[in-house]
Amino acid sequence: MNLKELMKNELNEKELLLLKRSFDQVGSVAQIEIPKELIGKEKVIAKKILETYKNINTVVKKDDITLGEYRIRPVKILAGEKTTIALHKENGIFLNLDLNKVFFTPRLSNERLRVLGLIRKNDFVADLFCGVGPYAILIAKFSKARKVLANDLNPDAYKYLLENVKKNKVEKKIECFNKDANDFKRLSADKVIMNIPKFSESFLKTAFNNCKKGGRVFYYCFARDEELKERINEIKKAGDCRILKKVKCGDIGPGAYRWCIDFKKL
Ligand SMILES: C[S@@+](CC[C@H](N)C(=O)[O-])C[C@H]1O[C@@H](n2cnc3c(N)ncnc32)[C@H](O)[C@@H]1O
Repeated sequence: MNLKELMKNELNEKELLLLKRSFDQVGSVAQIEIPKELIGKEKVIAKKILETYKNINTVVKKDDITLGEYRIRPVKILAGEKTTIALHKENGIFLNLDLNKVFFTPRLSNERLRVLGLIRKNDFVADLFCGVGPYAILIAKFSKARKVLANDLNPDAYKYLLENVKKNKVEKKIECFNKDANDFKRLSADKVIMNIPKFSESFLKTAFNNCKKGGRVFYYCFARDEELKERINEIKKAGDCRILKKVKCGDIGPGAYRWCIDFKKL
C-alpha cells in the first residue's frame, strides 16, 4: 500500500497531492519526508504508519538537507520507540547504524548487487568511502575477492563498520581504516569504489592513484542528463581511461540523478 492510499481518510485532496507516495525503511525505522505544508499533520501520518506496519517500531522525519563531509541527513523521531539506531538487513548482510550519526540509504541496494556481480576471483577491492560497510561487507561475504579494504573518515561510521564486519563474520577478508581517502596513494586495487557523489570531482586523482592499470573504478556523481557529458570529461581529464558504463542509480530531486560511471584505468 502506498502512503497516499494509506492516508486517504486522514488528509484532504490537496494534502494528499503534497504527500510523497513512498517511504524508506531502515531496519524497523520508517523514514518519511514531510513537505512544510504538511508539518501540522506529521504526527498523524507517523501514527498511521506505526499502526499499519507491524515491522515498523519507529517513524522518523528526514531533514531536507544532508550535512557536511560525513553526508548525514538528520532525522527527527515522530512516533514509536525513541531510537535512531537500526539493524538493517540487505542482500543477506546485517548493518547496524545510527541514522543521526552516519550516512546510509537503502535505495542503493540493487546498485550494490550490480557492483558485487562485477567482482572477480582474487580481486583486491578498495571501498574508500565505505560508510558502515554496505558494499565492502557484501563483497567480502559473497564474492571471491582476495581482500577488501574498507575506509571511512567519519569515526561513527568506522565504529559501526567494525561492528558490522564482526556481525557478518568477514573479519578475515576485510581491513578497516578510519582515514581521509586522500591518505591512500598507491593501493593498486583491481576495483575502486568511490561513493562520494557530492564531492566526487575532488577525489578523482585519488581514484586514479589507487586503481591499478586495467582496474575498474565505480565513480558516483550527481548530474542532470544534460550534465553527464561534463562529468565524463572531468574523468577523462584526470587520467587515461575508458568509460565502461553509465548507470542511473536513483533520483535526488526533480531531473537530477545519482550516477555510477564505471571506468577502466588504462
Ligand atoms: C555518500 S556516503 C557513502 C557511504 C557508503 N558507501 C554507503 O553506500 O552507505 C560518503 C561517505 O564518505 C565519507 N567521507 C567523506 N569524506 C571522506 C574522506 N575524505 N575520506 C574518507 N571518507 C570520507 C563520509 O563519512 C560518508 O560515509
